[in-house]
Amino acid sequence: MSNIVWHQKLDKEYRLDKTRSRGFVIWFTGLSASGKSTIASFIEKKLIDSGRMAYLLDGDNVRHGLCSDLEFSEEDRAENIRRLAEVAALFEDCGVIVLVSAITPLEDMRKLIRSKVEHLIMVYVKASLDTCIKRDPKGLYEKALKGEIKGYTGIDSPFEEPQDYDLILDTDKYDIMACADKLLEYIQGVM
Ligand code: ADX
Repeated sequence: MSNIVWHQKLDKEYRLDKTRSRGFVIWFTGLSASGKSTIASFIEKKLIDSGRMAYLLDGDNVRHGLCSDLEFSEEDRAENIRRLAEVAALFEDCGVIVLVSAITPLEDMRKLIRSKVEHLIMVYVKASLDTCIKRDPKGLYEKALKGEIKGYTGIDSPFEEPQDYDLILDTDKYDIMACADKLLEYIQGVM
């Protein structure tokens, strides 16, 4: 080991051959309270329980660390998504199944993700704004409606309906388990 200098970038196929672990990214876009994180964390556990390397990057959590300097202006949200996409692409390269749960409100952001990630499943977690306001698990919609929070997605900040998704999970119509099953079935087809 003494005189070896090793700085060759390992090729993806080499990694795959040795680790047998193919990475890909499952990105959940949707309004706050649509069910993104609930479904994503359930799927993460299922994948881990079946012995796969999976890791959830949750918008709410990364905003405490990696993205703690960012707020909710359009520019900051775009930067939040760019960082998440870069990190997801690195994990993917390592052979990890990355789950990302972030509102990702604009089509341009979703296009950027497709350009960064090699194998992407874009999942639109759909729930009407009325449903999300009724659910309001953190009480943030109530504050936004009273004007106590400015620029809340769906209230006074836009959420563009996703056009280019791979799977839609409608949590207005179906419960979380049915949505998770639909996604698991989809993943089986690509793993
Ligand atoms: S994104 O727009 O940049 O994709 P992200 O998913 O990271 O957003 O963060 C959304 C979470 O931040 C929400 O679930 C909510 O808990 C919280 N939040 C705080 N302020 C806002 C806001 N103005 N708009 C949306 N979500 C907010």
